[in-house]
Amino acid sequence: MSRTNNIWAVVPAAGVGKRMQADRPKQYLALAGTTVIEQTLSRLLESEAFTAVAVAISREDPYWPELKISGHPQVITAPGGKERADSVLSALKALQERAAEEDWVLVHDAARPCLTSGDIHHLIDTLQEDDIGGILALSSHDTLKRVDAGTISATIDRSHVWRALTPQMFRYGMLRDALQEAEGNAAVTDESSALEMQGYRPKIVEGRPDNIKITRPEDLALAQFYMEQQ
Ligand code: CTP
Ligand code: MG
Repeated sequence: MSRTNNIWAVVPAAGVGKRMQADRPKQYLALAGTTVIEQTLSRLLESEAFTAVAVAISREDPYWPELKISGHPQVITAPGGKERADSVLSALKALQERAAEEDWVLVHDAARPCLTSGDIHHLIDTLQEDDIGGILALSSHDTLKRVDAGTISATIDRSHVWRALTPQMFRYGMLRDALQEAEGNAAVTDESSALEMQGYRPKIVEGRPDNIKITRPEDLALAQFYMEQQ
């Protein structure tokens, strides 16, 4: 397939961050002098890979309009949805006037603020000519066990198991259609799974292990540490 002109970023940021147990959604917690979501969006914008970044924000979110970055000319705000997949679909729809069917979209969690420009360009450069697309992923260093009813039933061949990260990179039209068809399916926890359900086989591109998702309270200090190291 040919090189396309525009690459778009989509950032789901409409979650409540239940597991973080904080007084506000985790994307608004302080990190490295700003907030988690400002770090994430700045890194996407500074990579200079994207025409625009569409961010899905909850309708009841009082924090977003207060951030300067919400008014950035390359930032588009879309309403969030019930599940992550609904938020991603909503952000894709906000791009429908501007995005071509074959354009690439990189979907990246607001809660992954340690993403490097190097990983963004590594993913794009690796998959640019691909028909389907793929995701950043990590292999497992630990031995993996299958557990049934609390006891180990098997040791899983590590070479077949990867941890899915974001960004996940797919064609605009293909991703929209896959998410639309998967609407309401709780098994769709990332973009790749929606494409897999269509019978596609997305690629994996090895990412950096510091691209963590802030999920639990201890992750914030870890993200701070990784940022100091980068
Ligand atoms: N997200 C979203 N819309 C939803 C749910 C999640 O845009 N309805 C976003 C989150 O804001 C986050 C990303 O998807 O950036 C990954 O989700 P997760 O880490 O699960 O965040 P939360 O759902 O906010 O956290 P929790 O599951 O602990 O409540
Ligand atoms: Mg969640």
